[in-house]
Amino acid sequence: MWKNAHMDIENYRKRLQEHLGAELYRHSLEVAETAAALAVRYRGDRRRAYLAGLLHDFGKGYSQIELGRIAGQMGLCLDRVSLEEKGLLHAPVGAALLQRELGVTDAAVLKAVADHTTGRARLPLLGKILYLADMIEPGRDFEGVVQLRELAFTDLDKALLAAVDRTIQAVIQRGRLLHPRSVHFRNSLLGSSRKNGG
Ligand SMILES: [Fe+2]
Ligand SMILES: [Fe+2]
Repeated sequence: MWKNAHMDIENYRKRLQEHLGAELYRHSLEVAETAAALAVRYRGDRRRAYLAGLLHDFGKGYSQIELGRIAGQMGLCLDRVSLEEKGLLHAPVGAALLQRELGVTDAAVLKAVADHTTGRARLPLLGKILYLADMIEPGRDFEGVVQLRELAFTDLDKALLAAVDRTIQAVIQRGRLLHPRSVHFRNSLLGSSRKNGG
């Protein structure tokens, strides 16, 4: 059982290395390691977290046009913002492609990958870990990243709130479309931190 799981990961690594550019492959490995560390910290499933991190940007190996075409071919029901906003489509279409191209069947991993760009209300632990790992992996460099990395290992929801706020602010500053799921994600995190007296 474990041997098969190990072979799966090796196989995925090989496929990703061929499919993604060197920088994106590096990013994927770092997100995987960071997600695994967060899973250990928050008593999540370490292997699933590693896998979700490793596979999360599989969709980025396709152009925006290809992703749109594949979404149509596969009959994926996507909303207008996901289809129009560059940078969002690789998450849901990537999850569907992981299933089709790499034979990934773990529903929790696929869901976490599909949600990794926008988040959503009441995101499960695996999705939260992936969202945050994507933002704080060692190659990320932005103002406040050191503090965010620390916070990620002390208070997961507070770190996520800071991460989502940062994403939403960046979207607004760039004049891009803001996905409503990001707003729902933020509000649900804010609701839980209020309940916990934060
Ligand atoms: Fe991504
Ligand atoms: Fe990423």
